[in-house]
Amino acid sequence: MISEQMYPNIGHPERAIISQVDRAILSEICTLSCLNSKLSAMSKSTPQIDLPGLQLDRSSPTPLHQQIYTFIREAIGDGRLKANYRLPATRVLAGDWGISRNVVLLAFEQLILEGYLCSKTGAGTYVAACRSDDLPIRPAAKASRPQSKRAELTTYSLLRRASDELISGCSVDREAIQPFQVSVPSYRDFPFSIWSNLAMQVYRGLHIQHLGYDDAGGYWPLREAIAEHVQVNRAVRCTAEQVVIVQGTQQALYLAGSLLLQPGDPFWMEDPGYQGAVACLRAAGGIPCPVPTGPAGFDLDYALQHHPNARVVYLTPSHQYPLGGTLPYPTRKRLLDWAAQHEGWIIEDDYDSELRYSGRPLPSLQGLDQAGRVVYIGTFSKTLFPALRIGYIILPDASTARLFIRAKALLDRQNPVVEQMILARFIQEGHFQRHIRRMRQLYKTKQTWLLEALQTVPDQCHTSASDAGMHLVAWLPTHLDDRTVSSELATRGVTAPPLANYTLAHRQPPALLLGYSAFTKDQLETAVATLTAVLRTQDSIR
Ligand SMILES: Cc1ncc(COP(=O)(O)O)c(C=O)c1O
Repeated sequence: MISEQMYPNIGHPERAIISQVDRAILSEICTLSCLNSKLSAMSKSTPQIDLPGLQLDRSSPTPLHQQIYTFIREAIGDGRLKANYRLPATRVLAGDWGISRNVVLLAFEQLILEGYLCSKTGAGTYVAACRSDDLPIRPAAKASRPQSKRAELTTYSLLRRASDELISGCSVDREAIQPFQVSVPSYRDFPFSIWSNLAMQVYRGLHIQHLGYDDAGGYWPLREAIAEHVQVNRAVRCTAEQVVIVQGTQQALYLAGSLLLQPGDPFWMEDPGYQGAVACLRAAGGIPCPVPTGPAGFDLDYALQHHPNARVVYLTPSHQYPLGGTLPYPTRKRLLDWAAQHEGWIIEDDYDSELRYSGRPLPSLQGLDQAGRVVYIGTFSKTLFPALRIGYIILPDASTARLFIRAKALLDRQNPVVEQMILARFIQEGHFQRHIRRMRQLYKTKQTWLLEALQTVPDQCHTSASDAGMHLVAWLPTHLDDRTVSSELATRGVTAPPLANYTLAHRQPPALLLGYSAFTKDQLETAVATLTAVLRTQDSIR
């Protein structure tokens, strides 16, 4: 690019015609200037690397400059030195290695001549941007090095067993977001401009004390903001001392499992239920006792009769995951009585209760607890976005909270503080409440779109409207296998997890989970058309 600054007369009427010579000069100036600006930009933005690992052997018959040359060439060849890395100054290297600068210069000149390095006075020496086919052949010494046996993790620890099982039930690999993926907020509707403004303010006002270790329980103003939010919106009874900030529900469950269970302890688990929970409690050594959970909620009688020794129960009482019901009041009361009498613990996963579209908001189970036996878990993964990795545990009192805080410190010391500061402001300034209100409206509309689209397949699957959440359950004709239907859909670009993936011991009729919160009307309609086509083929196969 030619700029007027570089050649001020260009574009001027008197110099409208540029001679051949001018052009040649211009092109030269331009090339040099581009190179200069490129190199000076590079010197600002590219990392300067040291050259660790070079052992000069003064007793070797190979001259020192040759040793330096070979070392750098091999490092470029095997990718340790990447294109555009800036090498230390020859003077510095000579000083570090205790040799004459001329020796280093000799090696560098050779490397520049061969195109491995490039240099410009004043800007330093860089690794050239080579094509892969230009790279030197890997040194013979490396190729002939005996192949070491690949390290294999043979221990089959509790953590490994639990995570292996989780992966077989649900993929933890990165998947493209496609309908009907469940639990995905509408990222497009997140107020990023507000968030980034707050982030800027937080960074500008960052005090050096924020760069050190913070309280492992979390950033205090965020704990206060959460305490206030859950008191008002979820009827949770707590103060900020009882709130522990964690990296999402997953870490909360890992901590709760590790602190409430001893290896071999049975725990009641909703069936069908959240695989992430069963895996965490299993990893802590707990033995899952699946309890049938249907439209009437958690079957407490079954639990008491079949697994009377359990002292811990995992529940999603406000919006059962994945079926979507709410735990009736009498069962809540009985569960709390059971916990109080047997010194049991109720882990209440209140993952998406803010996303309730109609009916009265249901108070949390924690709010009814008189005996301090509920460990309440909340997350921002559904209301904001999961990559934030902020969730919270609310313990019955400050001293139990301190036990969790100590364990949290052991796991990862603390959550990153800047995100907590941004989130605290987001809540304090009312953006969180406004966003939730908008998302409730939006998700309700999206659910209606999905229900309308599903009306075109009335005989093949039935589903009904839900007062809350981000997905619907579509019940399939009983002769179909939901895993087969789900796999077939996956080959056609539709993700609809089968209910079978969420069951532990009690078989459910075949059904698919249809997430709607992240998708447009068009996407939902197209995916429903694919579902119809797949169900027709499955029927004809019969
Ligand atoms: C039942 C349930 N609880 C909690 C979560 C959120 O987990 P996290 O806060 O670790 O992102 C999910 C996510 O899908 C879930 O389904």
